[in-house]
Amino acid sequence: MQTNPFKPTAGKTPPTIIGREDVLEEFNEGLTNGPGAPGRLMRIAGVRGTGKTVLLDECSRLAQSRGWTVIKEVATEGLCQRILEQLQPKFQAKHARFEPTVAGISIGSIDIERIGPSLRDAMRQTISKNGNGLLITLDEVQDAELDEVRTLSIAIQQVIGEDLDIAFVFAGLPSMIESIINGKTLTFLRRALPFDLKAVAVTEVSYSLEETIEASGMELQPGIAGQLAEATQGYPFMIQLVGYYAWQLARRAHTPIIGEEEAERGITTARERFCAMVIEPALQRIPPTCIAYLLSMASLGQTSSTSMVADALNKTPQQVSSVRSRLLRESIIEAPSYGKVSFAIPYMRDYLYEHKAELEVEL
Ligand SMILES: Nc1ncnc2c1ncn2[C@@H]1O[C@H](COP(=O)(O)OP(=O)(O)OP(=O)(O)O)[C@@H](O)[C@H]1O
Ligand SMILES: [Mg+2]
Repeated sequence: MQTNPFKPTAGKTPPTIIGREDVLEEFNEGLTNGPGAPGRLMRIAGVRGTGKTVLLDECSRLAQSRGWTVIKEVATEGLCQRILEQLQPKFQAKHARFEPTVAGISIGSIDIERIGPSLRDAMRQTISKNGNGLLITLDEVQDAELDEVRTLSIAIQQVIGEDLDIAFVFAGLPSMIESIINGKTLTFLRRALPFDLKAVAVTEVSYSLEETIEASGMELQPGIAGQLAEATQGYPFMIQLVGYYAWQLARRAHTPIIGEEEAERGITTARERFCAMVIEPALQRIPPTCIAYLLSMASLGQTSSTSMVADALNKTPQQVSSVRSRLLRESIIEAPSYGKVSFAIPYMRDYLYEHKAELEVEL
């Protein structure tokens, strides 16, 4: 029996990586063109569920297929030490004790800096030993301790300066651009080739859904691929959810054809899952003042002016600017142009609209 080809799970490689050819091409060309090629130092920004982790994994696969050593890391505490240990399994970090963080201040910062030279030497040795190259990927950069990222990037920068075969690709929420990249001492990271993951074109989604579904032995009634694609709004996680449930409902009904009924019910289920897995957790993480701001935005449109949002709350834009910053930092809203805000997550506006009454009670 055929298995469902769609992968609606964070970090799982989808049947086809849709609409990210630019990122992968640049990276691949970077591997070919040697030290100094832009694709050897890249940053990938995108809101939750846009496919950052999937892209880092694909870069890893591309590098591995050329015999490179690959280290995949997530930017949590102890990052430098973990990389060092992977490069030199026998390394006993004398100075690299990581004390717990006290009230948000890392008290191990001096130790972290001391690890830098060892890190650089270990990178050099790995590259010369395997004769190909070394790729380091770093995910969730918005959570990083600045000290750790600084130490890591200084080591990488030195190795790049020696014309050795190294590549560094890092990814995070769009807010990482402010917190990490604009940090004073990190000019090196600011120069990384930037990619902002946006929604994929709906026509591309439609074509790809059709191809994946047909390759799995299932068919689509004419017009259904377009209807499914439209419902995804080009958002990668929704592509997998919609594909998965439309396919699964046809399988449950023992039909090899996805028709109108499967499509409609598939879209409804996908939206419910999306709300439970993305929208509700995002709203639970923020205080009531942020929810009030979002409700005010929802009453105005997908995109609205910051002064109108403030007006609707009977406040001045200055009075709500910290709320707005918090929502930007959490990647729940975006600032598409000066003085404007819009929802960064699809279906967020619809959700707020539909749950307005119950959300207002909690304010
Ligand atoms: N280019 C793509 N085309 C189709 N599906 C994709 C694409 N990229 C990612 N996906 C799917 O979207 C979902 C989310 O991908 P991924 O976990 O990489 O996102 P993310 O940006 O890392 O999210 P988070 O910020 O929550 O870590 C997964 O189900 C994955 O299979
Ligand atoms: Mg991820």
